[in-house]
Amino acid sequence: MATIIDGKKTALEIRNDLKEKIARLKIFPKLAVVLAGDDEASKIYVKNKQKAAFEVGIETILYTFDNVVTQGQLETLIDDLNNDADVNGILIHLPLPKHINAQKLLNKVCPLKDVDGFHPFNIGLLQNGDINATIAATPKGVLRLIKQTKIDLVGKNALVIGRSNIVGKPMSMLLLNENCTVTIAHSKTSDLRSLCQNADIVVSATGCPRLVKADWLKKGAVVIDVGICRDESGKLCGDVDFDKALEVASYITPVPGGVGPMTIAMLLENVVDAYLKQHQQ
Ligand code: GUN
Repeated sequence: MATIIDGKKTALEIRNDLKEKIARLKIFPKLAVVLAGDDEASKIYVKNKQKAAFEVGIETILYTFDNVVTQGQLETLIDDLNNDADVNGILIHLPLPKHINAQKLLNKVCPLKDVDGFHPFNIGLLQNGDINATIAATPKGVLRLIKQTKIDLVGKNALVIGRSNIVGKPMSMLLLNENCTVTIAHSKTSDLRSLCQNADIVVSATGCPRLVKADWLKKGAVVIDVGICRDESGKLCGDVDFDKALEVASYITPVPGGVGPMTIAMLLENVVDAYLKQHQQ
């Protein structure tokens, strides 16, 4: 039976450490959150992030806009936040309304305040393996969980399923920087099963309920499930057929309680790091 990786516990430890660090250093980090449109899931995500930030001592300031917000309004806000020395981090919650050019907006965020790690500057640093890169919260959290297993990553076959800018692409680069042999699979991949069978580490981020079958997995694989979906009966589940995969994997993350809590903890860590970088002498 696999060991279940308790992301909730690890995330809580990280948040407690951050709370202690913020108090010890007597700092007051501030995060600006931009929420545009009326996506209900985004509103819940943002509320959870604000609550977690408050608990560790990070102030958040929320800017909400309805669906008819213009590109110009959002760009003006980003300019103002970039110029506000009291704001240490800027989070533009995705998805944005369809008429907004999200990448153009993300590109405007000052890289030092880019706590999401979505700015091309930070993506470039990550590609270079530069320790100064701000890494997107979800892949950063996944790597932390993988490292917690203490398995040796060097030379391992890692399969990343999903090629999004938020998870799949930065995840594959992080694993490459750890000397894994990385394969990126996506919706057009022809034989996912055989790629899985060859993978020592599988990170799945597709949002397709139970896409990854237990009999696709190599015995002893480390399986990280980034998906959060509902199956046909409405039950919350991940990308992996968890109950059966438990019998094949060596380590596996549950949904919920695996990667999700780590995303929030890593965001908070990025805000504190951004504050410290901005106050470096
Ligand atoms: N929407 C869902 N997850 C995220 C995230 O990590 N960052 C941002 N900015 N938007 C999101």
